[in-house]
Amino acid sequence: MSAKSFSRIKVTAVLFLFLKIQPSVQAPLNGTKWSYIGPDGEKTWPQKYPFCGGGFQSPIDLHNNILQYDSTLLPLELIGYNMSTTDQLALTNNGHSVRVGLPPTMYIRNLPFQYTATQLHLHWGNRKKPEGSEHTIHGKHFAAELHIVHYNSDKYPDVTAAMDKSDGFAVLAIFIEIGPFNPSYEKIFSHFQNVKYKGQKAQVPGFNIQELLPKNMNEYYRYEGSLTTPPCYPSVLWTVFRHPVHISEEQLLALETALYCTRFDDPEPLEMVNNFRHIQEFEERLVYVSFHEVAERTKKTTKVSSTSQQLTMKMTEKTTKVSPTSQQLTTRMMIPPKYELYLITESAFHSWDLTEICPGQCFSSLLQGFKTLSETEA
Ligand SMILES: *[C@@H]1O[C@H](CO)[C@@H](O)[C@H](O)[C@H]1NC(C)=O
Ligand SMILES: *[C@@H]1O[C@H](CO)[C@@H](O)[C@H](O)[C@H]1NC(C)=O
Repeated sequence: MSAKSFSRIKVTAVLFLFLKIQPSVQAPLNGTKWSYIGPDGEKTWPQKYPFCGGGFQSPIDLHNNILQYDSTLLPLELIGYNMSTTDQLALTNNGHSVRVGLPPTMYIRNLPFQYTATQLHLHWGNRKKPEGSEHTIHGKHFAAELHIVHYNSDKYPDVTAAMDKSDGFAVLAIFIEIGPFNPSYEKIFSHFQNVKYKGQKAQVPGFNIQELLPKNMNEYYRYEGSLTTPPCYPSVLWTVFRHPVHISEEQLLALETALYCTRFDDPEPLEMVNNFRHIQEFEERLVYVSFHEVAERTKKTTKVSSTSQQLTMKMTEKTTKVSPTSQQLTTRMMIPPKYELYLITESAFHSWDLTEICPGQCFSSLLQGFKTLSETEA
């Protein structure tokens, strides 16, 4: 596409800049083995799972410079979380974490779509270094982190269909700290002995899953990110609760020592520890917060444009200078480079590598311009 036709992209399309990709499903190049340490560790994930090296990745560090108060962030309405003890939940050791399957009667009502629960799982550290949360606040890890995973059941028939869509998932993240004994978490932890090894399954009687969440659910961080495990699809609307829940030291120790990544007959058992991904770069994005007590992030200095028309013009200008070739216009089949501009028009999805067509300052002022635009027109 030439610079000329670029300027003809409908203005409405521009507003989609901050929506994420609409990826075409991509089979891993080879194998599906991955782990947190060793030859298949985090650093190698992008080789087999390109999205792990792409944009909008999670987890991230939550710090003042990227936070912005948003008065529209209301407490989530959790429906069907109070399960009957006659319901049975499947507890599984999948070799990466311990997970509890959740029934489709559990869902979140007041997000842009209805998101139906599918499973919950945990991330943790080890007994010597009990700092295994995935998200961090001002660089600080918590002892562990619970994720309750939901998929967009308004738009997609099942988890698999939703998994690689930009609006596919909504995950609730709960920080876990050491404190008093927690009888609700014990309803899961007391079954660890039955799922010590990869592939083992057990039944957990239903209980009120909401007890696993902090009492104060009004205060949370909200941003668009990714699955924190391969294939790392950037498909998650994150809600990270500000306040941690507490479990006892003994309970945390059970989490850190009871489980193995390997099967029961594996001659080289591997303890399930440190199953958290390290924080990812978070540039040119914002995290919205539902609470006030954060220092306002430094005021935006760049006001590139007040109308989308001007913005499109400006972009065209920059683009023209380096006379883009058709190679710079790629569809989402490509492995995502570091900076890309995504535009979704009525009929197609396009992306440009902005570092090529618009390096350095130009890129950041452009992005800021789009940000300003989408904020004012939202
Ligand atoms: C998988 O692919 C990567 C990158 O293409 C390569 O380096 C690696 O050797 C492959 N592994 C296997 C088991 O084929
Ligand atoms: C959950 O359900 C049980 C059994 O129906 C009920 O006794 C309990 O009060 C409910 N808890 C909440 C918090 O609604």
